[in-house]
Amino acid sequence: TVLIVDFGSQVTQLIARRVREAGVYCEIVPFQSAEEGFKRLKPKAVILSGSPASTLDIGSPRAPSVIFESGLPVFGICYGQQTMCAQLGGKVESGHHREFGRAFLEVEKDCALFDGLWSLGSRHQVWMSHGDRVTALPEGFEVVATSSNAPFAFIADETRKYYAVQFHPEVVHTPDGAKLISNFVHKIAGIKGDWTMSAYRAKAVEAIRKQVGGKKVICALSGGVDSSVAALLIHEAVGDQLTCILVDHGLMRKDEAANVVAMFQEHYNLHLLHIDASDRFIGELEGVSDPETKRKIIGRLFIEVFEEEAKKLGGADFLAQGTLYPDVIESVSFTGGPSVTIKSHHNVGGLPERMNMQLVEPLRELFKDEVRVLGRELGLPESFIGRHPFPGPGLAIRCPGGISREKLEILREADAIYLDEIRKAGLYDAIWQAFAVLLPVQTVGVMGDGRTYEFVCALRAVTSVDGMTADFYHYDMEFLGRAATRIINEVRGINRVVYDVTSKPPGTIEWE
Ligand code: XMP
Repeated sequence: TVLIVDFGSQVTQLIARRVREAGVYCEIVPFQSAEEGFKRLKPKAVILSGSPASTLDIGSPRAPSVIFESGLPVFGICYGQQTMCAQLGGKVESGHHREFGRAFLEVEKDCALFDGLWSLGSRHQVWMSHGDRVTALPEGFEVVATSSNAPFAFIADETRKYYAVQFHPEVVHTPDGAKLISNFVHKIAGIKGDWTMSAYRAKAVEAIRKQVGGKKVICALSGGVDSSVAALLIHEAVGDQLTCILVDHGLMRKDEAANVVAMFQEHYNLHLLHIDASDRFIGELEGVSDPETKRKIIGRLFIEVFEEEAKKLGGADFLAQGTLYPDVIESVSFTGGPSVTIKSHHNVGGLPERMNMQLVEPLRELFKDEVRVLGRELGLPESFIGRHPFPGPGLAIRCPGGISREKLEILREADAIYLDEIRKAGLYDAIWQAFAVLLPVQTVGVMGDGRTYEFVCALRAVTSVDGMTADFYHYDMEFLGRAATRIINEVRGINRVVYDVTSKPPGTIEWE
């Protein structure tokens, strides 16, 4: 295990990604609890992250001294480098030359961390982002590479296996960064790269069996990749002790519920209840146009229906959830203050307390792309693994204004055609999320010899990394024209198509 001490950098999670790509397990622990984390994890190496803080500020964070007393290899990145220097007897000053973006390092000395990678005198692109800088080295350290603005860009104390850099090796703009991190964990710390998904699968199955024993587990299956992989893993561990419930709120995409049922019942022989609750959901949503009210109704009904079905089954001791590692990592905040609710997200949160169940969360240690690898490992088809995210409240939040069965039907057809065109054009994987929205606006058109007065359909497609920020996808106009023509020709009720060119912020991805 590698311990990553988080000082609040925006990119700490990328350090963890790089370590895991090197086949080594790691955990991120906030600096405040790094000492406990160190004792609990018994790591073989430590990485110190960057930070928005300055080591020169009073009360700025430090790495716990147990780390330096342990004799373990340490890799300090950016702020991590500065705090290492400050704590080990060097000096940090606020920089006269702030350096952001691309810089070039020149290797000045051989270093064990460069093994098989960088040779003496060679130059390498790195990504800098810092204000402060080291100005005097602690005893035992020497400079191994420099940039024009950063004479201490890469420093090392090879005896103690301490390495520290002023740039960010974890980002893609440092092309050799991943290899530097891999060298650190393998060659410096001597950790074997045996963190693979097949090893994880076996370990997780064992852990689930141990936790659940002979008791019953229920799982809300949506067909999204997280709940699907969690269900398959638990199914592999405890078979028919698991029952999955698909609460069909009538707000899913075309053929979605049927596809999910076919997939899990037929291919995996998994015990799956398909509950058609569409009348109840659509009945209560009828005439409601306020987005937050819609979301609240859907969230409440989802819990009610799920709870009723669970009771019919005679209850269960465990509730399975597809919680991922990014949801679990405690965040380090320097800004504090309350954050505003933009949208109340719908999930099964609150259920375990209400129903007095324990949680089984077999994906708690994984990043999204690791869940995808695990899904492949479990034989889940690509169509489930690479799919775009889909919101819990479904098509209800893609029908601004009041919803009705008719409107949902129109939207489902338009959406299916749009996604079909995206797949045919080979664009599905290049887009993070794409969908149609049915606007509550009718416009005049002409088709054949007749006047039409029908709804407007808006198309949305975005690129994003995590859904927090997004840019609209830059289609070529030919594609948009083709999709629009098909939608207008094939869907009764739509006579105009527009494309949404709003990024996030200031827009959100969904329209409600
Ligand atoms: P927004 O619209 O907030 O969406 O920019 C960001 C991402 O979250 C998805 N989304 C949801 N997912 N329950 C979910 O599980 C929800 O209530 C919900 N609302 C939005 C949205 O599709 C996008 O991927």
